[in-house]
Amino acid sequence: MKLPLIIQGGMGVGVSDWRLARAVSLEGELGVVSGTGLNSMLVRRLQLADPGGHMRRALANFFDQSIAKKILDTFFVEEDEIENRHFKRTALPAIKLPVSVQRIYVVAGFVEVWLAKEGHSGSVGINFLEKLQTSNLPTLYGAMLAGVDVVLMGAGLPKEIPGVLDKFARHEDASISVNVIGCSDASKYKTTFSPLAISAHVKTQPMFRPKFFPIVASSTLAHHLMHKSTGTVEGFIVEGMQAGGHNAPPRGPMKLSERGEPVYGERDAANIKEIRELGLPFWLAGSFGSAERLVEALELGANGIQVGTAFAFCDESGLAKHLRDEVIQHWITNSGIDGEPVFTDLQASPTGFPFKVVKLPGTLSEKEIYDQRPRKCDLGYLRQMVVLEDESIAYRCPAEPVEDFVKKGGKSEETLDRKCLCNALMANIGLAQTQEDGYHELPLLTAGDDLINLGQFLQPGRQTYAAAEVLATLKAKAEGES
Ligand SMILES: Cc1cc2nc3c(=O)[nH]c(=O)nc-3n(C[C@H](O)[C@H](O)[C@H](O)COP(=O)(O)O)c2cc1C
Repeated sequence: MKLPLIIQGGMGVGVSDWRLARAVSLEGELGVVSGTGLNSMLVRRLQLADPGGHMRRALANFFDQSIAKKILDTFFVEEDEIENRHFKRTALPAIKLPVSVQRIYVVAGFVEVWLAKEGHSGSVGINFLEKLQTSNLPTLYGAMLAGVDVVLMGAGLPKEIPGVLDKFARHEDASISVNVIGCSDASKYKTTFSPLAISAHVKTQPMFRPKFFPIVASSTLAHHLMHKSTGTVEGFIVEGMQAGGHNAPPRGPMKLSERGEPVYGERDAANIKEIRELGLPFWLAGSFGSAERLVEALELGANGIQVGTAFAFCDESGLAKHLRDEVIQHWITNSGIDGEPVFTDLQASPTGFPFKVVKLPGTLSEKEIYDQRPRKCDLGYLRQMVVLEDESIAYRCPAEPVEDFVKKGGKSEETLDRKCLCNALMANIGLAQTQEDGYHELPLLTAGDDLINLGQFLQPGRQTYAAAEVLATLKAKAEGES
């Protein structure tokens, strides 16, 4: 695989879906699908009659048609039979999942990568958040069945993943440790995925081991992953706190700015010299989305850059079109409206990591709108596991009803202002749930500080731009330098 100059960063849920990744790969760079929430995306797209037939086309190429048929029979709804927007869900992620549920994850990982790779020979990656330990393995295996070229993983220390990739490439069982609050032995609880349990025919499928690029915020983390992982690491994404999505917390005691954002200092910037000395390829991320910054990254010895925000608002992005348009109108073409567009929110994400929120009317970024949402946890990707006094495991999310969270040993102050990212992020891509009580889930957008620079991709008189235009703009000054 030729190493890319530009990696289109993985953006969940479904912002970097197969269309965006494919568009970038077709231009010769690395397109990356998000691996987060793919099972819910697949079953909801099917319940909306699968516009364009893309899910069904990919399903028809899954090696075990009995599995594909079962999923279709359970979830597909014809257009004239769609009654409401109350979607049937699959079981919530857990340490042990029924095989029928694991199959949906596998197929969903396969479908997204298969579509991104359809009809060309460019490379495609998949991105996971390390924190989503209970849903990553089957999705990863499915992505490998579709021939994913690179696995990228951030938001944690994914040192067990390289060994998992080696095992899955041989269709062997693989396990990873899961973090359980209240258990000091980090390796006591494991989640395992067994390819043979999915289908007796898996071994007939060709497999190769993708490259592994962990996403790190420091050279210490990169060094640790390079030397302490269960297998090889092939490169790093070095991401700063300007990036969209979740950010690493600042080092040391938390200090807040006047606006209430975490204050980062010099210590938080990765030491690029030390990264370079590790000798592996690396890409810089976090407000590197311009021609000048690509040149700067190359001069620092990087292979290139990873860019998210610029792609999140392009034509091929999975974000609902009206939200992309509103953000561009509100913050770019009418720029100057009420202050800063992006707020680094310490409370928003149930993970406890800082999360960048785009301020946009009509979304959960507005307190009065957020306060109207009845608390509920029904997707559960971000649930924490906790060991109770009787040694049983409970699953809890700081965004669920406060009394439920407290019953499971959580502190009520941990629930303050926590947003249900799972439902909001599904709403961002046009797959919002209408709950049984009639509440319609609302969006909450994320983007990096680079949001204010989107104007550079807009041709005069236009309000939209394509992924290819982002790539051309970014590469404008780097010709001959890579
Ligand atoms: C909408 C959005 C969603 C994101 N989701 C994820 C994610 O699920 N996993 C991840 O590792 N990074 C995620 N990121 C970070 C990007 O992959 C990328 O590293 C980052 O956006 C680069 O910085 P930039 O936003 O300044 O271009 C997200 C970024 C955006 C803008």
